Amino acid sequence: MKKLTVVIIVGSLRKDSYNLKLAKALATLGQNDFEAHIANISDLPLYNQDLESAFPEQAARLKKEIQEADAILFVTPEYNRSIPAPLKNAIDWASRPYGQSAFANKPAALCGTSPGAIGTAVAQNTLKHILHYLDMALMGSPEVYLQFKEGLIDNDGNISDQNTQTFLKGFVDKFVTWIQKHKQ
Ligand SMILES: Cc1cc2nc3c(=O)[nH]c(=O)nc-3n(C[C@H](O)[C@H](O)[C@H](O)COP(=O)(O)O)c2cc1C
Repeated sequence: MKKLTVVIIVGSLRKDSYNLKLAKALATLGQNDFEAHIANISDLPLYNQDLESAFPEQAARLKKEIQEADAILFVTPEYNRSIPAPLKNAIDWASRPYGQSAFANKPAALCGTSPGAIGTAVAQNTLKHILHYLDMALMGSPEVYLQFKEGLIDNDGNISDQNTQTFLKGFVDKFVTWIQKHKQ
């Protein structure tokens, strides 16, 4: 059977991002069930409605990747108790022009990690509102509010803690079931 395809949108542009490490770990945990592709959102111009008439190629590329994927996984840090600007920028581009959003009815899940004790809970709450508004088929649970400790996940996505590995595998397995149920 053909593998599912999942586009992962990471809210951090940082080279050593904890969320990028988490994204890689989730891609590895799901590799028997889906092909994961981490979208490049770093080269998108700042959203400006004036640019929509000559839609930027970077934004068109992102929209195409989302449209062709079976599902989208958002992995985000929390910035000032909200989502990072590059993530909001990417979402705004892929939701436009009006009536031509790439997100509608697409299965999705979200998660995030931070050194802070509440592990991106506030940012994820904000992101949930946005994704609901965009009519995504958003998985509600399990929720992943992961407090990152140095060495928890390496640059290749290897997880050092067995309990975290088991928990994240449960998240990935539920997401696979969710995608199969909701994909178009
Ligand atoms: C502008 C800015 C705002 C931040 N605000 C929060 C916050 O509200 N909550 C939090 O837990 N961490 C906050 N942090 C710390 C981030 O969790 C930390 O920098 C983390 O490493 C970012 O994720 P990344 O490693 O994936 O880049 C903030 C960091 C920056 C740069």
